[in-house]
Amino acid sequence: MKQSLTDHAERFDEKAPEYDSNKSEEYKATVSLVVDHADPSPADVVLDLGTGTGAIALALAEDAGEVVGRDISEGMLDEARAKATERGLENIAFGEGRFREPNAPDSVDIVTSNFAMHHLSDEEKRETIAVLGDLGADRVVLGDVMFFGEPNPEEPFYSPAVDDPATVGVLADAFTDAGFALTAVEPVHEQVGVLVAQRAVR
Ligand SMILES: C[S@@+](CC[C@H](N)C(=O)[O-])C[C@H]1O[C@@H](n2cnc3c(N)ncnc32)[C@H](O)[C@@H]1O
Repeated sequence: MKQSLTDHAERFDEKAPEYDSNKSEEYKATVSLVVDHADPSPADVVLDLGTGTGAIALALAEDAGEVVGRDISEGMLDEARAKATERGLENIAFGEGRFREPNAPDSVDIVTSNFAMHHLSDEEKRETIAVLGDLGADRVVLGDVMFFGEPNPEEPFYSPAVDDPATVGVLADAFTDAGFALTAVEPVHEQVGVLVAQRAVR
């Protein structure tokens, strides 16, 4: 991680009130793919990590049994809570949780994360994916900055000072090592995509 958790949290606390404005087409496409691939049923418990202002969590709460959104920024979580109240959603809860210590409910069926895991180093991403394997979820849907080839240093889709995206290969290996099989790889941009990992062995 290029910044401490506290620094990341403070940065997002500041951004929170404006976070939902002016999102890129790539961001919107990724949100849509994560929501489509997560595809929860009313019996499913969904854990959304790095939930932010709840773009994924709130959309999934329309169909899931229960959605739990976790984040390190209280400012972002407050925005998410306000939207849940506005929409009258009662099957959703937001609270503190970190990628490697997610403060997860006892049973989780689907894990989602969108545009958040790239804040971790590759080793921290591997540790996170191992933690997700131990949670027992059937499916993990990860939308994020990720490199499908050599990223163009002139046009990074991220902030090199604070972000640390992985290659798709590093992420695929981490999922395989954690007991998942990749069932979909959706490139959105040469530096952005969505991976769907399904539990391979029970
Ligand atoms: C770019 S926002 C994405 C928010 C949301 N998932 C979305 O799609 O709009 C990244 C979020 O990740 C959170 N975050 C960063 N590092 C984290 C960590 N180690 N554990 C949990 N959340 C983290 C930030 O606080 C921020 O809310």
